[in-house]
Amino acid sequence: MAKYDNNFTDQLRERLSIVDVVQRHVPLTRKGENYWGCCPFHNEKTPSFSVREDKGFYHCFGCGKSGDIISFTMEMEHIDFMAAITELAEMAGIPLPEIKQKSQEQIAAEETYITITTDAAKIYAEKLFTPDGAHALEYIRGRGFTDEMIKKYGIGYAPKNNIISNKFVNTKQDKLIATGLVRRGEYGMYDFFRDKLMFPIFNARGQIVAFSGRSLDGSEPKYINTTDTEMFHKRQTLFGFNFARENIHRANRAIIVEGQIDAIQMQCNGFGETVAPLGTALTEDHIAILCKANRNIIFCFDGDGAGQKAAARACGIVLPFLRDNSDVRFAFVTGGKDPDEILRKSGKSEMDKIINNSMPLVDFLWKITNTNYLVSTPSGKTQAEKFLKSQLEKITDKTLRAEYEHEYDSRKFNEWHKWKKKSEQISIDVPDIELTTKNTLNFIVNKYPELAERYGDFISSFNIDFDTNVPDMNLGFESAEKYLISLKLQKYLEKLTIDRKQLIADALKNNNPDSIKEIDDKIKVAKEKLERLLDTNDR
Ligand code: UTP
Ligand code: MN
Repeated sequence: MAKYDNNFTDQLRERLSIVDVVQRHVPLTRKGENYWGCCPFHNEKTPSFSVREDKGFYHCFGCGKSGDIISFTMEMEHIDFMAAITELAEMAGIPLPEIKQKSQEQIAAEETYITITTDAAKIYAEKLFTPDGAHALEYIRGRGFTDEMIKKYGIGYAPKNNIISNKFVNTKQDKLIATGLVRRGEYGMYDFFRDKLMFPIFNARGQIVAFSGRSLDGSEPKYINTTDTEMFHKRQTLFGFNFARENIHRANRAIIVEGQIDAIQMQCNGFGETVAPLGTALTEDHIAILCKANRNIIFCFDGDGAGQKAAARACGIVLPFLRDNSDVRFAFVTGGKDPDEILRKSGKSEMDKIINNSMPLVDFLWKITNTNYLVSTPSGKTQAEKFLKSQLEKITDKTLRAEYEHEYDSRKFNEWHKWKKKSEQISIDVPDIELTTKNTLNFIVNKYPELAERYGDFISSFNIDFDTNVPDMNLGFESAEKYLISLKLQKYLEKLTIDRKQLIADALKNNNPDSIKEIDDKIKVAKEKLERLLDTNDR
């Protein structure tokens, strides 16, 4: 990637106050050396987001996020480095310099890097077929890997000794260290990967930039990956993408699974369009990479609780990338722990079923909303609405967002207010209503969903089957609303009258005229309201 040199970004940092940059999004107040505000990256009510103007950085003591004007702009506005630089340059009023080509040294350094990692991969691959690697070879074959697969994915074995440090004695130490394969310790150089089953990690161009090593003796962690280097950024790397790219294009979709062995098995069993993140939760960068290739994505997560959580997270991340031509779905592995297990136990057809049964994003978001909140209660419903709203706000395409809102309005209407079936308890409490009232309500509910939504709780107290033939009536929106209000008032009056009778009966026993007066007042007010309403109705 073309890069601006540090001079230019330094110039931006010099020209712009971080306080000004942050204040465009977050109000700050000065306390001593620092400015404070509420952190925009996590939910909080008391400010723990501190900004140091002299140092040019921010730090949140709540969530730990920190950085400078560039990272702030990137994160806050969901834009990439170049876009952030462009925007900040504009703000600073300085022109963007011509993009610097990579320097000769940089090109040379990258070449050396790739040479080392490629040679290392060869060494590991050879080791797998020596006595030292016998247990590793047995393991990977036991997991259904053919020799062809081992070759294609460059799978190898890192022995217990420091094989890389030893074989590369003639390479400059700093260059070796730069690849993450070797570290400098108290007693000299040592290998990062030892006694591991090795998976090379390729960049999109098919060059080996890092490795993932699986432990073979059951020790934890199960996988270790090269820590980030100049050429490997875990959060921006999708395992298998180099092999999948062409297939994604052909299949017109990408599948994301949780583990790299899953990705390999998927690719080798008819799902060439599969990739996996590398031991991190999915990031925006991952989605951005995929969306450049194709906007149809199927997330295929393990069926366990962690998988459900990961899916909910992925859903939140993918929303800003939705366009009117994206088809995003969520599939869950059932009948086995992960795609690898499904494919080996039951074969491709079973995996096909899982993929074909995937749930469109619109349904998945609705599902998590209904699972995470108790939508049968007013407060749960409110929380659910707020959650849905916060999610939909992430959709940048306004028309698309409106469509989603519309869709959920109708779901709220149909599902949360339970028009069709009411609890038996209420159906006993509410006296039968006349046929004309039934017909009118039926008409209103079907003709004016907004009214149905607004007066939902009231209407649903009538236990009417709103699915039966809808009568045709000549009733405008306003009149319909007045009808509802007056019906509500009538029902209220009926209730007050019953209460009054009860009170009078009680009053004979314990003599409490005040409460009767109170209810008489209420009845009077309600009657007046009703009269006024009916009066304006006539005009
Ligand atoms: P899982 O724990 O689901 O393992 O981790 P898995 O893929 O089923 O592993 P196998 O099949 O037993 O080999 C899913 C992914 O999370 C990352 C790896 O990329 C793994 O493929 N991971 C897991 C780590 O990076 N480190 C770990 O310690 C564990
Ligand atoms: Mn697995």
